[in-house]
Amino acid sequence: MKHLAIIPGDGIGKEVIEAGLEVFDAVAEISTFDYDGELFDIGADRYLRTGELLTDEDIDGLRKKDAIFFGAIGDPKVRPGILEQGVLLKMRAVFDQYINMRPVTSWFPFVPLKREVPFNMTFLRENTEDFYMGAGGRFGPSFGGKNVSLKVKRELYELEVDMKADPSNDDDFAFEIGFLSKKGITRFADYACRFAMARGDDKITLVDKSNVITHMYGMQRDIFREKADQYGLELEFMFVDAMAMAMVVRPETFGTVAVPNLFGDILTDLGAQLQGGLGMGCSGNINPEGLSMFEPIHGSAPDIAGRGIANPIAAILAGQMLLEDQGYPGEGKLIHNAVTECLRENKTTPDLGGKMTTEQVGKAIADKIREGKSR
Ligand code: NAD
Ligand code: IPM
Ligand code: MN
Repeated sequence: MKHLAIIPGDGIGKEVIEAGLEVFDAVAEISTFDYDGELFDIGADRYLRTGELLTDEDIDGLRKKDAIFFGAIGDPKVRPGILEQGVLLKMRAVFDQYINMRPVTSWFPFVPLKREVPFNMTFLRENTEDFYMGAGGRFGPSFGGKNVSLKVKRELYELEVDMKADPSNDDDFAFEIGFLSKKGITRFADYACRFAMARGDDKITLVDKSNVITHMYGMQRDIFREKADQYGLELEFMFVDAMAMAMVVRPETFGTVAVPNLFGDILTDLGAQLQGGLGMGCSGNINPEGLSMFEPIHGSAPDIAGRGIANPIAAILAGQMLLEDQGYPGEGKLIHNAVTECLRENKTTPDLGGKMTTEQVGKAIADKIREGKSR
């Protein structure tokens, strides 16, 4: 019996998680997989009601679970960053989910590229460092003080940075600092190498912008080179701008792609669109020794929330990743096959050209799984 934390969150997060649970139920009916799900009311509604984001009590409750199934966060009534940093990024940091795994697979016929070449990339996005540390501030006449003190806490370390800011004019400034640590890069590189070996790739692609951001990404290159040599893997470097182009022109030439946090966020939305749209991109926030969290990569989509037309497949495929992570690869495959069949039969939401609702697609996929048993 697996104990799952269910966090639907905001907007379409709620709708797609519902469909995901329908699919889990179908899998549980026909296989040895069994689960109980505890619902956690974390997100905009509770924040607007009580002012709470991710509380210590939430963290204690979540810690007791085997895995987290997460929808999406974000609400137009809340200033950007509050929920994103206070809930999602905090969870990734607190549970030290340092790998964000995002597969990018050619789901034909929904790939929008001219050439019909199959591709199968896995983006491993570093998930705890880079420009996602929340280490920034503002100074200048409107903000008082010229000295800025920063504190950031991660599982691997705590950092304090004091800056003396003395601009020669009376302008206001804002800044955001990125950090990479040797320990952080080393475990990231280690994971990427092990993953590539397990996948049967002989090459890793490391994406960065070390021609401009020379310190962080220069150090990252050095450590990746050392690690790749240790594992006997070829290491290919790509600048992120060129990578964005190459993903469109020759996606079939990439397998395991390691990418720092911010660029990974951006490239994987592009990756989702290569698969048919944001409704197809799934992800796992992985702590290989701890609590992992599985979610679609899309957000709460306020523009379509409440209409029942969100594509639930990204969430359902995140469910597949959850099962595989929890030791149920066969059950994961059931989900994958059911999704493939529904796509083939055009049982899809409007974003993929279909006419079905979120709930209907979830049910169609669940039915495919149930039928599989009787065949
Ligand atoms: P978004 O991913 O929510 O939506 C972008 C576009 O894609 C919208 O037009 C939306 O309708 C469409 N879309 C997304 N998911 C879809 C689906 N499953 N089916 C069909 N269409 C889908 O990004 P946004 O609009 O930039 O952000 C909205 C909010 O979500 C913001 O508050 C943002 O911070 C938050 N956000 C949260 C997460 C997360 O929780 N992991 C991820 C991204 C954005
Ligand atoms: C994602 C999202 C998040 C990120 C936001 C909501 C903090 O865009 O999971 O891709 O930037 O990581
Ligand atoms: Mn994103």
